[in-house]
Amino acid sequence: MKIKNICCIGAGYVGGPTMAVIAKKCPSINVTVVDINQDRIDAWNDSDLSKLPVFEPGLDKIVEETRGKNLFFSTDIDKAINDAEMIFISVNTPTKTYGKGKGMAADLKYIELCARQIAKVAKEDKIVVEKSTLPVRTASAIKSILDNTGNGVQFQILSNPEFLAEGTAVQDLLNPDRVLIGGDNASEAGKKAIQSLVDVYANWVPNDKILTTNVWSSELSKLTANAFLAQRVSSINAMSELCEKTGADVNEVAKAIGMDSRIGPKFLKASVGFGGSCFQKDILNLVYIAKTYGLNEVADYWEQVIVMNDHQKNRFSDNIVKTLYNTVSGKKITFLGWAFKKDTNDTRESAAIKVADNLLNEQAYVVAYDPKVSEEKMYADLEYLNTRSSEENRELLTAEDNPYQACKGAHAIAVLTEWDEFKTYDWKKIYDSMNKPAFLFDGRGILDKNTLEKIGFVYYKIGVGA
Ligand code: UDX
Ligand code: ADP
Repeated sequence: MKIKNICCIGAGYVGGPTMAVIAKKCPSINVTVVDINQDRIDAWNDSDLSKLPVFEPGLDKIVEETRGKNLFFSTDIDKAINDAEMIFISVNTPTKTYGKGKGMAADLKYIELCARQIAKVAKEDKIVVEKSTLPVRTASAIKSILDNTGNGVQFQILSNPEFLAEGTAVQDLLNPDRVLIGGDNASEAGKKAIQSLVDVYANWVPNDKILTTNVWSSELSKLTANAFLAQRVSSINAMSELCEKTGADVNEVAKAIGMDSRIGPKFLKASVGFGGSCFQKDILNLVYIAKTYGLNEVADYWEQVIVMNDHQKNRFSDNIVKTLYNTVSGKKITFLGWAFKKDTNDTRESAAIKVADNLLNEQAYVVAYDPKVSEEKMYADLEYLNTRSSEENRELLTAEDNPYQACKGAHAIAVLTEWDEFKTYDWKKIYDSMNKPAFLFDGRGILDKNTLEKIGFVYYKIGVGA
């Protein structure tokens, strides 16, 4: 089937950038991204490109180039489904907050709603592509809903997991390490569907990087990739604590082991803990699936990656309290960074949230600066934790949009995100404006110890022994 119209349900961090790149690379395909959230769609359509709901370097240019030509954002979901031969499902699949599997399993209610809507609307055969990260065997649930509630038309289900990382989404989409397409490769119709999607990507991705598998391998590969990546971060973070005790430097250790070609140098940066919408969710999901099959040792093994990550965030805030003479009550602590990594406005599962929550429990006064995150987003993140009332959060935390102002009069600064601009600040000026001794806790290991100590800071770098 030659694809002329694509619909993507879900205009979020995955759907938006992915469809923008498909539109750019496939000028003969019309791409319509739909969402139930009118505000989000309005923001995607805003003529002021700085208002796009997702900040990603390079994305605004691609949207400017394609929007209104072959890229459209709309809330008319039924029409977009009807017009398209291929429908991507790219809605959120958060961890369940209720019932069986609460706190572990993925909540598939948004996926199911999409499947039911596609079934109701579709009058012709469709290819449905799972883009959201899903537990293994979700494709069979989608197929069952489509086949049992549809209008007698044929559906092919493909799994095409997204491997883009936020902050580098556009580059990752333009030059992917691989594209994975899972489908029913035992049937002729399944093979044709797989080929239709291969043809879309072949517009810019070399053939040897397009991998086709059965649906279950594809679904499980996504969870496995994220579990391995998160495990690397937890492994180096575990060593960071040992380095601090033994006088070693985790950056030197990472460099030494990374030169072993079997280990490789990437993803070995010690940090205050990983965040993002995927790692924790996917591992919890993996743990839940393993438990469902009675594989308790497998479940326990992967759960440790999360245990270590929680420990890393808690020990960072504990260290701040301990260093500030065991009390931070009433003290001003400045956060540089709130996003879960640099070059994104996404804060989901960001380490900053947990560290802030711990310090607010100690009655610290937190002032946060992030170049891309608004004060309201910070409050929403804290409120989601439900630790204290909204009024208390608003009393104890404020955001500043000027970093120098944010640091003025602070007892301590904590670097929570590795934004490049932090490296270029006038640290002498910041030091002069702070309470003394001036403490600086570098949770990302991005600043230069010698320079800062020369200025007078009491400087702590994650994973570096005293
Ligand atoms: C991840 C996967 O990388 C991507 O393939 C998948 O599609 C979605 O999940 P993302 O969460 O956007 O992407 O960002 P990533 O770069 O993986 O970083 C995740 C977290 O780990 C961030 O908080 C980051 O700061 C942290 N991290 C990463 C480290 O602390 N150290 C590292 O060496 C690498
Ligand atoms: P991701 O990081 O996976 O892209 P986001 O939360 O950024 O997740 O985006 C998911 C989007 O999916 C949200 O904008 C949400 O409004 C949208 N969405 C959820 N359910 C539906 C649905 N049934 N129909 C259309 N859009 C939906």
